[in-house]
Amino acid sequence: MSPKKLQNLAKKHGTPLFVVDHKILRHNYATFKKYLPRVQAYYAVKANADPVIVKTLYEEGASFDVASLPEFMLVHENIKELPAKQRQDFIWDKIVYANPIKTPQTLEALNQYRPLVTYDNREEVRKLKRHAPQAGLVLRVKVPNTGSVVELSSKFGANSGEAVDLIATAFDAGLTVEGLSFHVGSQCTNPTNYVQALQLVAGIFHEAWDRGFQQVKILDIGGGFPAPYDENVQSFRHLAKILNAEFKRLFPKDMEILAEPGRFLVATCATLVAEIIGKAVRDGKLCYYINDGVYHTFSGVIFDHIQYHLKAFRDGPKQICSVFGPTCDALDTVSLAEHLPEDLELGELLYSENMGAYTHASSTHFNGFPPATVLHIHRD
Ligand SMILES: Cc1ncc(COP(=O)(O)O)c(C=O)c1O
Repeated sequence: MSPKKLQNLAKKHGTPLFVVDHKILRHNYATFKKYLPRVQAYYAVKANADPVIVKTLYEEGASFDVASLPEFMLVHENIKELPAKQRQDFIWDKIVYANPIKTPQTLEALNQYRPLVTYDNREEVRKLKRHAPQAGLVLRVKVPNTGSVVELSSKFGANSGEAVDLIATAFDAGLTVEGLSFHVGSQCTNPTNYVQALQLVAGIFHEAWDRGFQQVKILDIGGGFPAPYDENVQSFRHLAKILNAEFKRLFPKDMEILAEPGRFLVATCATLVAEIIGKAVRDGKLCYYINDGVYHTFSGVIFDHIQYHLKAFRDGPKQICSVFGPTCDALDTVSLAEHLPEDLELGELLYSENMGAYTHASSTHFNGFPPATVLHIHRD
């Protein structure tokens, strides 16, 4: 979106303004499908749970990965009016519940939908048997997360050595295991993680089939697909080429493959516009104070380990500046090193691109400041 248009929108709607461009959202989904035609994309709702985003992606053909009962209901409520494409009476074609640890209450509420859910340990098998015996199971396996910006393997995933026993335990309990999943870590710029993960799960599939569990047929390759935050991130096309070659080499043609992309689909579709509300020089360094910060749209600085860059709408002699959020907490530091014009005045605007993933999703009302206003742009 052009800077001029962003400025006009900010003038009209006020700031902080979180502008979601659905044209880019649809383009990202189309890119995913174009380069990974064998893979059904289950959008990871946690990246940005805005119902308008869910609707657009559903209309484009996406399915959804949810992490909680509220996310499950959000997807269910928003897609139930739209033309259904469910397999038998299962909801699997549209939703995977991909949080390996679930409360009994959540499982009891989910059971009626016969959901597809992930698990990675024996306690969870017991829970599932008791509270959601109608669920289909997907075993989450631990895989290398080397070099990924957000590491997930210390929290989730069965070791490969115990994987087939965990499949057997579930079948012994009268449950059905439908597949295997993994997550290579978020913002994974190291394709080797995917290659190693695919080799590892291929071995587990073969062992499971040899032990008679032929119905284990779903391969869920998780998320991790990197967003192009900077020019060092290799193209999706390049990663997809590697993945397609591995799918062909390691798995039968009728393998059902799905993925849970979050960041890749939404990161580039949103831009944040904020206003300069304060300006000071501290210890010789120019500091700008803006009306959005790490307790709000810039929450990803803390929770997502991402550094977003701020841009001004006009040129001027530049300096390395600090940019702080509006709250009284010193943790509310958006950046200690932004290259910005030194003569910006209070009331002028700054903007930050690629803000769609893991940003607005973790906004709070800390210090009484509400989250940014969200504006959806569907057409040019
Ligand atoms: C189980 C699961 N699936 C998918 C995702 C989405 O990952 P990404 O945004 O890297 O695509 C996450 C992110 O934490 C996750 O935990």
